[in-house]
Amino acid sequence: MRFVVAGAVVRERVERELLLAQRSYPADVAGLWELPGGKLAPGETAPAALVRELTEELTVTVRPGAALTQQVLLQPDLTLIAHWATLVDGVPRAVEHQGLTWVDADGLAAMAAGGELVPADTAWVPELLTYLRGR
Ligand code: CDP
Repeated sequence: MRFVVAGAVVRERVERELLLAQRSYPADVAGLWELPGGKLAPGETAPAALVRELTEELTVTVRPGAALTQQVLLQPDLTLIAHWATLVDGVPRAVEHQGLTWVDADGLAAMAAGGELVPADTAWVPELLTYLRGR
């Protein structure tokens, strides 16, 4: 089994917020929003891959935390997982994505209801909402 790791990057402002990134490719998901991330390199741990991918894609340094509960089978040999993460350095910039946005619980719920999320990532919406509503 190979793995893709995505980051549930969160911050606390007035509300708790989650970072979403808008895919620019491939055509079937271009324009939809995802938790940014990518495939683990051979021998790489998921937290290390997340740090590397978010440095490449967002020009930031994150501190990875626990894994989210849900895992998604993308292909027979490819599983998508996510880890919580917080920013420790830098301001996110969209290097590979069309755009970036911070959403609170209501914003995420609206995007999920509107079909604006990458299909696989909808598995995490309940967990994400529980966290975002937790203060
Ligand atoms: O850049 P790299 O090939 O490492 O990763 P990617 O193309 O961003 O993602 C690999 C696969 O995981 C693609 O099929 C993405 O659609 C999928 N993916 C996803 O469904 N949800 C995410 N949050 C991130 C990736």
